[in-house]
Amino acid sequence: MKTSKCDILAVENRFLDQEQSGTSVSPPDQDVLEIHRAIPGYAPTPLHSLSGLAERLGIGNILVKDESQRFGLNAFKALGASYGMYRVLKQRSKTTLSPRELFAGTHPMSDEPLTFAAATEGNHGRAVAWAARKLGMNAVIFAPADASQSRLDNIRGQGAEVRLVKGTYDDVVEQAALESAAHGWQVIADFGYDGYLEIPSWIESGYSTIFIEIAGQLEQNGWSYPGVVMLQAGGGCFAAGAIRAIRHLWKTQPRFACVEPVEAACLLASAQSQTGELTQATGKLDTICAGLNVPTPSLTSWPTLRSEVDVFLAIEDEWVKDAMRHLYHPVGSDEKIISGESGAAGLAGLIALQSADQLDAMRETLGLDADTTVLVINTEGDTDPEFFRHIVGEA
Ligand SMILES: Cc1ncc(COP(=O)(O)O)c(C=O)c1O
Repeated sequence: MKTSKCDILAVENRFLDQEQSGTSVSPPDQDVLEIHRAIPGYAPTPLHSLSGLAERLGIGNILVKDESQRFGLNAFKALGASYGMYRVLKQRSKTTLSPRELFAGTHPMSDEPLTFAAATEGNHGRAVAWAARKLGMNAVIFAPADASQSRLDNIRGQGAEVRLVKGTYDDVVEQAALESAAHGWQVIADFGYDGYLEIPSWIESGYSTIFIEIAGQLEQNGWSYPGVVMLQAGGGCFAAGAIRAIRHLWKTQPRFACVEPVEAACLLASAQSQTGELTQATGKLDTICAGLNVPTPSLTSWPTLRSEVDVFLAIEDEWVKDAMRHLYHPVGSDEKIISGESGAAGLAGLIALQSADQLDAMRETLGLDADTTVLVINTEGDTDPEFFRHIVGEA
């Protein structure tokens, strides 16, 4: 395990809504699980208890929700995309919609197929392409020109057209918006910006299924609710969706740590800003965590994170590699988990926190001690299999 002291940044949230935790956070939409259950192939993803790794890290327990198993797509993103696209169609439909017919592609709406467009580093685009295909509709996906070949192949494999854009993720988002406006395509973005707030909020809601499933799995196994939840973030849509669900649907409330790559830490930068305003990341946007490589916070998500996250962490990629290896080479009878770069970032933040001597105050803020149960979400599997094998030592 690494012990270097200078490769993790941690900031306590000065804007925390301590007085009235959760009250300023909007609840997720109520029909999300029902809609997901209507999609062929829906099944809850596993929740694992890694007591061996927890003991090694000096905490009570680690729970890992394995979203690499979601809909056979190797990442959690289909939950947000499918729900967002369903809501768009519901809004456009003149009749009552049957979600089952819609996702079987047999609804009359698929006779005049819509084209959905999305900007992506890989996972969101694959999810939009997958959902469009299920709905009997088209997808055009915009990705950074340097995106991994295997991730682009996975998008094309769902029948979507892929357009490459030079520049940062912000440039890709902008290009997707411009071309979609010109062609009349429906943008499905997991990132809110001025004038585009409703769909990202539906996408946040879509992630609530993960946390509804977790609550059921905790009850079934008789496991305690986590005291701390680690949430990896790019623009923050996933983390905000998680918080909205947990605040409104769980009976016991945890503390939250948000984890970003140090090279793309826009949420930590916003937490450090004078008045807690949206602030650009100052790093070089050079990280192995492609899904988290976002320079600007999502406008829909930042208010939730600003009022609810206890600690913002920014970590170097070495911690992520370390976390991927810990999950792949399990301790004792722990489950072996295939976790990709962005997928392992939540655990990486936890390992970094537990390893850094100077972070006692942060651990205290989170209430992180030898008895704490920590939840991490493996948001992706080996979406770049060659790089994955290289990192875990199986190349
Ligand atoms: C695997 C993975 N985890 C987490 C995230 C973070 O998502 P967000 O941009 O909503 O913060 C992404 C985003 O693409 C991702 O691909």
